[in-house]
Order: sequence, then structure tokens, then C-alpha cells
Amino acid sequence: MRILITGGAGFIGSALVRHLLVGTDHEVLNLDKLTYAGNLESLASVENHPHYQFVQADIGDRETVGRALREFQPDAIMHLAAESHVDRSIDGPGEFIQTNIVGTYQLLEATRTYWSSLPDERKQAFRFHHISTDEVYGDLHGADDLFTETTPYAPSSPYSASKAASDHLVRAWQRTYGLPVLLTNCSNNYGPFHFPEKLIPLVILNALDGKPLPVYGDGLQVRDWLFVEDHARALIKVVSEGQVGETYNIGGHNEQKNIDVVRAICALLEELAPGKPAGLGRYEDLITFVKDRPGHDQRYAIDAGKIERELGWVPQETFASGLRKTVQWYLDNLEWCRHVQDGSYQRERLGASA
Ligand SMILES: NC(=O)c1ccc[n+]([C@@H]2O[C@H](COP(=O)([O-])OP(=O)(O)OC[C@H]3O[C@@H](n4cnc5c(N)ncnc54)[C@H](O)[C@@H]3O)[C@@H](O)[C@H]2O)c1
Repeated sequence: MRILITGGAGFIGSALVRHLLVGTDHEVLNLDKLTYAGNLESLASVENHPHYQFVQADIGDRETVGRALREFQPDAIMHLAAESHVDRSIDGPGEFIQTNIVGTYQLLEATRTYWSSLPDERKQAFRFHHISTDEVYGDLHGADDLFTETTPYAPSSPYSASKAASDHLVRAWQRTYGLPVLLTNCSNNYGPFHFPEKLIPLVILNALDGKPLPVYGDGLQVRDWLFVEDHARALIKVVSEGQVGETYNIGGHNEQKNIDVVRAICALLEELAPGKPAGLGRYEDLITFVKDRPGHDQRYAIDAGKIERELGWVPQETFASGLRKTVQWYLDNLEWCRHVQDGSYQRERLGASA
């Protein structure tokens, strides 16, 4: 297939691009605006791959997206581009509305124009795969409750509300115009190349610097964690074998309290990075409880039974194995982290495109 990926320079998108290029024969066009979250250094290992192309563009720019579609002639679009950080959505929701809702609308319209022009056979085979989050379902209160594909939407944050809106638009474009869509809603991802503002990389890097490890509220919020490479494998399954119009929940069967995640990272660092900053006893001593995030969801947990039954996907990593790989990756790639932290990953890009 020829696959256009939006947001391929982000955390999950770059894992997907690397997987597609290394593990399959698909051709990839990565269309990414390169916001603060887009980092081409995450794609350094594949940037010269003969099946890879990159275009810097905003999904909200219908003309440029339309031109990319006509020139690249994709068989599928995998739409990951989004503003994705909940705390940023609370501080400034505007960009989330613009990219996640208006941008998705513009992308759907550009896609509809392109798809309508395809010959019948290619039209039927075409797929628009929208990548979304389990946060659209709101939070769970019963200890054994799980999100299924039919759980009603009840988003809590500007981020999850904007993703919920984009899911509705995608479904409407199928119902109204017949666009062959697929949707996936996934739990929290973690793994290599994760932007250091997110919990797991933040804790690893702060601990190595001897800085406080901030934990919201009592730290008892529960999240289901999925190793990013497992997510990439699931997305490739869905775009190749999923039933048009269906939604698949993707999860790691790995429910963890935030505080336990932070403690597990500290324990791994004791083993893998014993040389601590001067004066520090144990990494755990850095844990600091901070004021809870407004509207903070208490528990997310996914029933990933449908994708397992229908497409045969199960995660390959446990939380213990995935977290160990992640901590080791950060220890081995401190330069990537430093470039993100000091902003040089963006300066190099601006220099290159100037
Ligand atoms: N991170 C998670 O745990 C998680 C879980 C489930 C679903 N998701 C969803 O998966 C997708 C990818 O998440 P992520 O964590 O990789 O996000 P990310 O923030 O790391 O990356 C987003 C990418 O999209 C690009 N982008 C942003 N606005 C754009 C625009 N207007 N036009 C073109 N490109 C733009 C950015 O430059 C960046 O490369 C998102 O849609 C997110 O909602 C994420």
C-alpha cells in the first residue's frame, strides 16, 4: 500500500513510520506540521529509506493536503496528527479545537475530493484510519468496569472533547458520504522517543537530574499503559485487515496507578543508573505530590477483546518488560532528550528549512 500518515514526526506516528519502513513493503508519505511535538530526529534511522517521503504541512491547509494526495496517490490515510497533551489543552484549548476538530474536518474534505476521483476498485479498497484515544469515554468508577467500543462518549478535558468531536466527524463522513473509515481508540502509550513533558519520560529525566518527581493529587489515578511498538503493530493490523466502519479499542491489559508507575521507574533506575546526583539517597525520595489537575479522570481501562478476537492482535510487551526497555532507551539516548529539552531539535529544523 501507499500510506499517507499525518503526524508521523510525533511519538506514536514516528514509531508507526519506523515499523512500516522496516517491517513491511508499504510506501510512506509523512505529512506533519512539525509543531513543538514533531521531531524529525525520531525518524533519523529511516529518513533515507527509499520508501519514505516527508512533507511539512498543516492538516488544516486543504489545498496543500489536496496536492499531496493527488501527487502521492495513497491507498490509505492514517490520521495521527493532533494536539495531544492534556495539560496544554487546559492552559490553551484553542489549538486543540483548531487542529483536532477543524483540521480533521479539512483533512476529511480533502480526502473526500481525492477519494471521489478514484476509479471504483481503488475507491472501494481505500481506507481512512482515524487514530484516537480512550479518553473520549471519560473515566470509570467501578473497579472492574472497562471501556468497550460501545461505551458512551463522556470526555472530560478540552483534549479529549476535541478528539471525541473528531471521532464523530470521521463516522459522519462514512455515514453521509460513504468514505471507508476505520477508528481505533487506544490507552496511554509509553516507550522510546516520548516527548519529555509526559509522565514516564519526565520522571526518568527529572530523576537523573535529581529534580522533584511531580505526582498529581494522591497519585492513585489508574491508567492502562501500552508499549508504543505494540500500538504501531495494532495500527498496521487494523489498516490492513480491519472491517470498514468498525471501531477497535486497543489496550495493554496493564492497569497501573500513577504512583506505582513512578515507583517502578525509580526502582529500575536504582538498578540501571546507580550513579546518582550528589546528596541523593534513593530516587524515590524525589517524589513530590502536587495539586491535582482540574477535571482529572480517575481511572481508564480498556477491553481490547474485539481486536484480539477479530484481528488476532495482542500486545507483545508486559508493563515490566516495556518499562525496562523504555528506561534503558532514555539512558542510552540522552542526547535526543537534551536536544528536545534545550529546543535545538527545532532550531536545527528551522535552520534547515530557512
Ligand atoms: N500518546 C498517547 O498515549 C495516545 C494514546 C491514544 C491515542 N493517541 C492519539 O494518537 C495520536 C498521536 O499521538 P502522539 O502521542 O504521537 O502525539 P504527539 O503530540 O507526540 O505528535 C503529534 C504530531 O502531530 C503533528 N501535528 C500537530 N498538529 C498538526 C497539524 N495541524 N498538521 C499536521 N501535523 C500536526 C505534530 O507536529 C506531531 O508530530 C493523536 O491523535 C493522539 O490523540 C495518543
